[in-house]
Amino acid sequence: MINIALPKGRLGDKVYDKFKAAGYSCETMEEKNRKLIFTDEEKGVKYFWVKPSDVSIYVERGAADIGVAGKDILLENEPDIYELLDLNIGKCRMCVASVKGFEDTGKRTLKVATKFTNVARKYYSSLGRDIDIIKLNGSIELAPILGLSDVIVDLVETGTTLKENNLEVLETIVPISARLIVNKASFKFKKKEITRIVESLKEQVE
Ligand code: PRP
Repeated sequence: MINIALPKGRLGDKVYDKFKAAGYSCETMEEKNRKLIFTDEEKGVKYFWVKPSDVSIYVERGAADIGVAGKDILLENEPDIYELLDLNIGKCRMCVASVKGFEDTGKRTLKVATKFTNVARKYYSSLGRDIDIIKLNGSIELAPILGLSDVIVDLVETGTTLKENNLEVLETIVPISARLIVNKASFKFKKKEITRIVESLKEQVE
């Protein structure tokens, strides 16, 4: 059996479509239900829906052989896994943003609100800029509006959330997309099966 951790939610639907196009599908996954685990006995594959930010944990620890995770999560968690394929979906960018007209004078510690504390720390440390990190879990855009922070480090996809809240991008840190990741031991011991899946997916990547 090959265990595959898929991110549930918005990205998960796109990821499932890619797997399906590659010949890996499971009818019960397409039904509206709350099930989390699905088995395709014929192909010897088991899929499970995982919270997107947890996929790399399942794969790193071997509870899943393969998974799909956003590059944002990989940069943040730095899991010890192999990243084998850019699926070219879930594309967005990790940015620094703030209220329109904000300028960092560099005179005092910069207050940075984000879900991605590791990414933000590394980015500002590469600039030699002192920061005070404020860890949030969602609706990050509120922070600079309410004066909780000077800037945010967050994902920007269409830019609508920023625009509708009078915020703007100051810097792009890194482009993001969904990546196929593999457990290191699984890649050694189930190489043939895993390679077959990776090659089929590769054909579906534009
Ligand atoms: C993400 C991200 C931004 C938004 C960007 O949030 O954190 O808020 O999407 O998308 P846009 O540029 O297309 O507007 P998400 O919807 O995942 O919710 P969150 O507030 O819980 O992070």
